[in-house]
Amino acid sequence: MPRVRFLNENLSLTVEDGVTILEAARTAGVNIETPCNAIGLCGKCRVKLGSASSTVDIDSQKSPLSKAESARTYVLACQSAIHGDVDVLVEDRSAENRSLRILSEGSSFSYEVKPFITKRFNGHVTEILGGGIPIGEEDGDTTEECYGVVVDIGTTTLVASLIDLKTGEEIATESMLNPQSAYAQDVLARINFASCPDGLATLRRCFIEAYLTMSKAMYEHAVIDPMRVYEVVFSGNTTMLHIACGLDPSPLGRYPYISKLGGGEHMNAEGLHISPFGRIYLPPVISAFVGADITSGTLVSRLDEIEGITAFIDVGTNGEIVLARDGVLSATSTAAGPAFEGMNIARGMRAARGALESFAIGADGEISCSVIGGGEPIGICGSGLLDVVGELVRVGVIGKNGRFAEGHHNESLKKALRSVDGKRAFFITDEVYITQRDIRQAQLAKGAVRAGVEALMSRLGVSDDSVDRVLIAGSFGYHLNERSLLEIGLLPSAFAGKVLFVGNTSQSGGTAFLLNTDFRERMKDVVGRIDKIELANEPGFEKLFVNSLGF
Ligand code: FES
Repeated sequence: MPRVRFLNENLSLTVEDGVTILEAARTAGVNIETPCNAIGLCGKCRVKLGSASSTVDIDSQKSPLSKAESARTYVLACQSAIHGDVDVLVEDRSAENRSLRILSEGSSFSYEVKPFITKRFNGHVTEILGGGIPIGEEDGDTTEECYGVVVDIGTTTLVASLIDLKTGEEIATESMLNPQSAYAQDVLARINFASCPDGLATLRRCFIEAYLTMSKAMYEHAVIDPMRVYEVVFSGNTTMLHIACGLDPSPLGRYPYISKLGGGEHMNAEGLHISPFGRIYLPPVISAFVGADITSGTLVSRLDEIEGITAFIDVGTNGEIVLARDGVLSATSTAAGPAFEGMNIARGMRAARGALESFAIGADGEISCSVIGGGEPIGICGSGLLDVVGELVRVGVIGKNGRFAEGHHNESLKKALRSVDGKRAFFITDEVYITQRDIRQAQLAKGAVRAGVEALMSRLGVSDDSVDRVLIAGSFGYHLNERSLLEIGLLPSAFAGKVLFVGNTSQSGGTAFLLNTDFRERMKDVVGRIDKIELANEPGFEKLFVNSLGF
């Protein structure tokens, strides 16, 4: 049987003839990211073969790797079958993942601290009350120690905060890459993976381990006893909540797209290592594709209260949109795909150290860019991609149809247009470039969000210029700028000057749910009244989408 050596882990094992490098890595416990669910599209499972390795099948027709990479013995772990001894070098992404820029704060408003969990000392024991009803007792007076945790479970990132339930103060916070993204990048891929044998258990285990890592760090930082934590709020999209609660998310991925979770309820907190009286609270879920994270955003943005017309847009792999008109709300979601996360892009990467995050072209064609952590870019994150595409459209290097234009740009820009494997690409540095396919990915992503916005406006009979404010939520959205969004047409030009970036409202809204129990019933009522729109059923949506693709 063939022998595989994973050089950087100093691990070796024998495998059946014909298994893929990825399968061997998983057997050995070696982590290789597979954002496209191992279908050979994203190129992120790239590994390098040692010189002694010559017996791996490579489907070069399908590979997103360039000829230069293949010549340097890079292969896709998910597409390469092993037929003889191989040495494999896995790219170490841990430093990149540790430097990932994660937004833990979102806008909010002032409210009374009135948590669901309270404590009362009767001279002998401390009673723990949930919603005013006794749920447990502790010896002695422990009234000074009463804590809760809020977790924003994003598809790509996790943010946790430890909150003092007496004062409302956040006393520690932690964040990390959602380790589930090693298996599948976006929501649909995550649902597919969860449907495979052991898939759901694998994803849930990943989440619980990540939760325990973050919470341990917070308890140590704040020097508190985890047994004094009584409530944990999970704020996240519907799929993430299903997985976090160990529920099969597959009904979310097929018609009629039903969520088993309605939210607005408590769940068992087993495995979270908190007080035995502790529970998980899930905010109300809007629909299969508009989750509790958007309910949290709706709460802290007060969409059900503010006058006028407000568009709330959470830009990510899934774009969720809520349109509010004098307290009447409609919501939808649109599949933007992974381009905004820097995935399925030739030189794409997450917003971590080395990522090009903004880009501009001066009057003389001079390129300037900024890179997370400084230095030369090693890749392009989502906000960088939108900036690059927006600027190239503005100066005419990319035409309105999204294709590289012929001829009429200045000399230095002309020099930057070269080819990779016979296809045109715009080079920012010798190693970092965008291809025609990358532009197409950006078009599909921005077209999906724009079409969703247009569909909601048309449903409510609202015109572009009657919208009073546009709230862009989410970690990715926070690093965008209004100019890029308007330049590429992700937003209508009539939104100029009305755009506010509100940050991680899933986290700030989850905190509001933890700290004021009155919001729970109120938001159940609000969510019940939201008009939930399934874009695929909206007449004319296809046409809207096609019209939204151009620049
Ligand atoms: S190409 Fe292998 S995981 Fe995407």
